[in-house]
Amino acid sequence: MVYDVRTIFWDGCIKLIDQTLLPDRFEIISCESIEELAAAIKRLAIRGAPALEAAGGYGIALSAHEKDFSSAEGLKEHIKKAAKFLSFTRPTAINLFYGIQRVLDKALEGESVVEIKELALNEAEKIADEDIERNKIIGSDGARLLNDGDTVLTYCNTGSLATVYWGTALGVIRSAVEEGKEISVYACETRPLNQGSRLTAWELMQYGIDVTLITDSMAGIVMQKGLIDSVIVGADRIVRDAVFNKIGTYTVSVLAKEHGIPFYVAAPSTTFDWEKTMEDVVIEERGSEELIYCHIKCKDCKIAPEGVKTYNPAFDSTPLENVTALITEMGIIKPPYDKSVPEVLK
Ligand code: MRU
Repeated sequence: MVYDVRTIFWDGCIKLIDQTLLPDRFEIISCESIEELAAAIKRLAIRGAPALEAAGGYGIALSAHEKDFSSAEGLKEHIKKAAKFLSFTRPTAINLFYGIQRVLDKALEGESVVEIKELALNEAEKIADEDIERNKIIGSDGARLLNDGDTVLTYCNTGSLATVYWGTALGVIRSAVEEGKEISVYACETRPLNQGSRLTAWELMQYGIDVTLITDSMAGIVMQKGLIDSVIVGADRIVRDAVFNKIGTYTVSVLAKEHGIPFYVAAPSTTFDWEKTMEDVVIEERGSEELIYCHIKCKDCKIAPEGVKTYNPAFDSTPLENVTALITEMGIIKPPYDKSVPEVLK
């Protein structure tokens, strides 16, 4: 294995893999201020719901360390402002808000500047460690759903890069392979930002797992031809009636239902927002340049006329009736979800 490092970690400041550079370049960048971290989140240098949870947590720790404060009260005001600032970076993944709030609450228990800094960093490190533990459980739980020789279709990137380490939906595939099962993967490219082709295909090749790249529009034909045994995706937020995930997930869920293929969602407990319903969630809308250029970094390669009207939602909602099971660190949750989820969450 070539690549085996945490996506985000603390080393005097926040260090993270800049995912916008992959698959061409593997580079770890530093964020020394929360402004730098916010910019990294917005441009998707760090992305994926569980990785954003860690980023939110480390962001509060960073805000506690980035300036010198003479009083605990002054520092507390500063980190509260930082929490507000970071929560305006991306709206859909609930994990980001969970990470910010958890570290903020812990840090506010501190009575001195030193204690606040220590509490914030320890809590952020705990979030990162817990993410890995949870992913390993999700992986081994979910691996029970895969048979030796299965072919899985996946969408977006839910691997190590989308978490602190290991991954959720891709973690399930990795765990199954680690157990000795032979698993092949069809990875949808995931337009417009290509998390599937740039990141999932790259990650799976790093692990030596058989992967075939397809465009999003090819999900139907591979199912129709009987090439897919199951679909596994991740989630940005799971509410009472739907799973929010990368734009295009809903389409794949409908195709899977039509072809009688199990459609699994792998996500940690921190992705659940069970008090809410579909209407309550804000879907991030991104700029037209993501649709007009073949890649936002290649502004010399237009694939649509400049000035065309665009609609670019980053996520969609898959009704829970399309989901065969939710794979979590608390076990595999099956319908009826209105009964099974509250049972498990408590
Ligand atoms: O816009 P992104 O790349 O942050 O979107 C990521 C996804 O939609 C993932 O599928 C989701 O966060 C789950 S990652 C384990």
